[in-house]
Amino acid sequence: MITNKVAWKPGTMIYPLPAVMISCGETEEEYNIITVSWVGTVCTNPPMCYISVRPERHSYEIIKRTGEFVINLTNEKLARATDWCGVRSGKNYNKFKEMKLTAVKAEKVSAPLIAESPLCIECKVTQIIPLGSHDMFIAEVVNVQADQQYIDKETDKFDLAKAKLIAYSHGHYYKLGEEIGKFGWTVQKKKKKK
Ligand SMILES: Cc1cc2nc3c(=O)[nH]c(=O)nc-3n(C[C@H](O)[C@H](O)[C@H](O)COP(=O)(O)O)c2cc1C
Repeated sequence: MITNKVAWKPGTMIYPLPAVMISCGETEEEYNIITVSWVGTVCTNPPMCYISVRPERHSYEIIKRTGEFVINLTNEKLARATDWCGVRSGKNYNKFKEMKLTAVKAEKVSAPLIAESPLCIECKVTQIIPLGSHDMFIAEVVNVQADQQYIDKETDKFDLAKAKLIAYSHGHYYKLGEEIGKFGWTVQKKKKKK
């Protein structure tokens, strides 16, 4: 059969993905940030997510020992810090200091929040699954902290579009583009004109 496809060897090609900053550590001296794209939601109720981390990362031992981390969503303002924290190790740098980011105490976990992030998701590890190059940390979301500036004062809704989140696709970072639809729009009945 003639197709318009070229066969590649198996690889990780699910894109776009988020590139989030994971903050971890129990004490100020230990606080660290690792950028992660292998991240996602795995269950709605209870709310659960995962990150996959290579054992050789400085953050790996911290997350394994403490069993806690915070997922900090990243936006255009944080793009530089997101990349830098993904190419430099906490073995050699204090990433909060170098990137001028503010560590704030979380409510439910010992790992700090990154104050500059629009949305911080506090997580407790429930399972660690060794998969090969990466170990998968499955975690329960125990608290979510949203930056007030993105909450609409009238509707009280959190407006993620205002946060200017970024995406990561095949080695490149992107701004999000125009909205092209909303959940269920394909089957939504049109309101009758009065
Ligand atoms: C966009 C991006 C995504 C990344 N995703 C992951 C990932 O999912 N898992 C991982 O172990 N490392 C990932 N890395 C690499 C780590 O962030 C990088 O090795 C970092 O320096 C580790 O920091 P640490 O040694 O302080 O823990 C990613 C890097 C970038 C730039």
